[in-house]
Amino acid sequence: MKSFTNVKDLGNLNDAIKEALEIKQNRFAYKHIGENKTLLMVFFNSSLRTRLSTQKAGMNLGMNTIVLDVNQGAWKLETERGVIMDGDKPEHLLEAIPVMGCYCDVIGVRSFAQFESKTFDYEETILNQFIRYSGKPVFSMEAATGHPLQAFADLITIEEHKKSERPKVVLTWAPHPRALPQAVPNSFADFMNEANVEFVITHPKGYELDEKFVRGAKVEYCQEKAFEGADFIYAKNWAAYQDPNYGKILSKDRSWTVDSAKMNLTNNAYFMHCLPVRRNMIVSDDVIESPQSLVIPEAANREISAQTVLKRLLQ
Ligand code: CP
Repeated sequence: MKSFTNVKDLGNLNDAIKEALEIKQNRFAYKHIGENKTLLMVFFNSSLRTRLSTQKAGMNLGMNTIVLDVNQGAWKLETERGVIMDGDKPEHLLEAIPVMGCYCDVIGVRSFAQFESKTFDYEETILNQFIRYSGKPVFSMEAATGHPLQAFADLITIEEHKKSERPKVVLTWAPHPRALPQAVPNSFADFMNEANVEFVITHPKGYELDEKFVRGAKVEYCQEKAFEGADFIYAKNWAAYQDPNYGKILSKDRSWTVDSAKMNLTNNAYFMHCLPVRRNMIVSDDVIESPQSLVIPEAANREISAQTVLKRLLQ
């Protein structure tokens, strides 16, 4: 594997899940393959889980890790080509990236959608510049349009908890006070469409995701109907994708908050969310604290998804 930006990079998904579960059984079995190798993690945006789990995954493989917070201590970076650099950004990404590549063997990048230009975001301009100019294997730690390490961890968690061969998995939009990117729901849809699950997406009208990720999956606009018989409820907020509202909040309707009355419509479903989560906006306290909540096991599996990907990039 030369880079990791989406589900296709994993090849056969069943093999990838099997490998991940084997790593989980003995996470130090490959502690020599990263010896004398350096993992560079570049953050343009904040993180708790990705930062800790990916660093831990690298350490499990014997790697040294360097973390660069671009907005804290590094030079401010210009990202657009053709700009006359007479402002407050003294360095261009096109020099910074090959320089970063000199100091490491694998690079992870976190670069959220900026919601200034849909084309800039959906062409994954920053992530693709790293792939093109660093000279090193690159993986996404959540980029503008996808969060594949999260979706891989989510799928591992579903595999561990499913009670039927083909469970019903529902991705539901839920309200949030700020405009959030579509990266998590995009990647979740991408992975669910490849997995052996009955996949349903529910959201208010106007929140339709990019068809490139939805790929014909069932969209049910009535949240209660979507929840009926579900085995897994995956909640997430996202801002509008469709023009002319790209990046905008169209609704903060708290009737879409996941609460116990809605969970009672399901097949005793597990509740999932990638975290961080806004309690009583996205999900009620009692649902996230219930025995059916998988938010902590999901976060724990971020170490396993990252380690599986890093192992493949090193090999
Ligand atoms: N789920 C996730 O990526 O968490 P962080 O933003 O804290 O890394």
